[in-house]
Amino acid sequence: MPKSGLLEQFINSPLAAKAGVPQGEKLRRHAPGEPALDGPVVIGGDGRLAGGLRDLLGGDYQYLSAEADTKRAALVFDATGITRPEDLEALYDFFHPQLRKVTPCARLVVLGTTPEATADIDERIAQRALEGFTRSLAKELRRGATCQLVYTDPALGAGSAATGAGTGEGGAHAASASGLTPLASTLRFLLSGKSAFVDGQVIRVGAQAAEEPADWERPLEGRVAVVTGAARGIGATIAEVLARDGARVVCVDIPAAGEGLTNTANKVKGTALPLDVTADNAAEVIAEHVRERFDAPIDTIVHNAGVTRDKLLANMNEGQWKMVQNINLVAPVRITEALLEAGALSDSARVVGVSSMAGISGNRGQTNYATTKAGVIGLVDALSGKFAETGAGLTVNAVAPGFIETAMTAAMPLGPREVGRRINSLQQGGQTVDVAETIAYFAAPASSAVSGNTVRVCGQNMMGA
Ligand SMILES: NC(=O)c1ccc[n+]([C@@H]2O[C@H](COP(=O)([O-])OP(=O)(O)OC[C@H]3O[C@@H](n4cnc5c(N)ncnc54)[C@H](O)[C@@H]3O)[C@@H](O)[C@H]2O)c1
Repeated sequence: MPKSGLLEQFINSPLAAKAGVPQGEKLRRHAPGEPALDGPVVIGGDGRLAGGLRDLLGGDYQYLSAEADTKRAALVFDATGITRPEDLEALYDFFHPQLRKVTPCARLVVLGTTPEATADIDERIAQRALEGFTRSLAKELRRGATCQLVYTDPALGAGSAATGAGTGEGGAHAASASGLTPLASTLRFLLSGKSAFVDGQVIRVGAQAAEEPADWERPLEGRVAVVTGAARGIGATIAEVLARDGARVVCVDIPAAGEGLTNTANKVKGTALPLDVTADNAAEVIAEHVRERFDAPIDTIVHNAGVTRDKLLANMNEGQWKMVQNINLVAPVRITEALLEAGALSDSARVVGVSSMAGISGNRGQTNYATTKAGVIGLVDALSGKFAETGAGLTVNAVAPGFIETAMTAAMPLGPREVGRRINSLQQGGQTVDVAETIAYFAAPASSAVSGNTVRVCGQNMMGA
């Protein structure tokens, strides 16, 4: 065994843990058929949402009063009632007594009001303050527990007035949760094992109408999804997870990756489309393939194909710059535009980009790559604005993975790899499935009110935090 292999074994051993090397909790991940949450949830807060949350989540969850002594697997706090900086004390009052009672891999979710959408100055300030609270609490939690903030459109739940009744075990709750349905997919995702490596994130949910799926285990039933770069790595897992959720998947990759592509397509019982995404007619070829095979428009396109050609800018040749731009950014932009123009996307289509932590924080030796990954965030911002303006039912979001255990990260030198794995709140690398689950959440028809988000799947990595 090479020396670095032995050293790596030691670094990840119980002995090293005793010596203080962080090992990270084994994270709770989703397994079909398992309960939505592995313990009860405590709901607190006095805003416009709390009263309807129990009805919204329904019988898939158990509920506990804030005062109970039993361990709880999740805390959901409705902070939409916080309209003045003085009211922020409610965060302390609710969370302080709860924190020693949460299980490993617990889920903490704060629900707020989108600050820019509030009409009142005090309220905007107070709501903006929630970010500092949730991001810090996420850093304090241990043993695989996570904390996120969901900003909601003020119209969400505005009809079902605040009762604060969500806090009690047997407390009354608002008669109807139907006004909160746009929140269902986000809340379920964040409470589940599907969001295992998502931590310290802020997700914005609008008030667009949403419908719950007939079966939360098969939310993509009958939908057609196209995944680029599906021959291996993260793309292959995206294809698997979308298929598990019921989608018919078209797997795209370069002809040279034919074997991997066939393997993925067979595994997911989908179709293989050998295609270089930088080809001038790539969108046409994709649309034609989908029409021929499924006689349907595209419901989801995941722009996952991507490459790195790392060099300091001073040492980078033009080819290394251009190749990365063309595959990672120009292709997703041009393919999306052409599919839109050709009417090849369905009325409820989901466009999903794959950005990177490097696109947020920048990275030495990755000027070419980080440019493209920041550009993917630009694509989300620009297109979501356009979709919102035109009232289209389409959404666009991106994931920004951090350190994910893939062939690429396995090939890194030992030092940076072991540090890279651990410099996040969960003290470990993520799995390809963590990225794929977040994409499946965006792709779900029930996520119609989720657009314009770039969600990091990075365990709250310190880079660019
Ligand atoms: N692995 C990580 O830790 C990490 C972190 C952040 C972001 N990402 C992003 O996730 C995505 C997938 O990464 P991965 O680690 O699975 O990489 P990977 O190299 O294992 O897979 C990328 C796939 O894209 C395909 N591809 C490349 N050029 C193509 C082209 N022109 N047309 C069609 N297909 C093409 C490749 O053949 C390959 O199958 C990339 O966009 C990457 O930038 C990965």
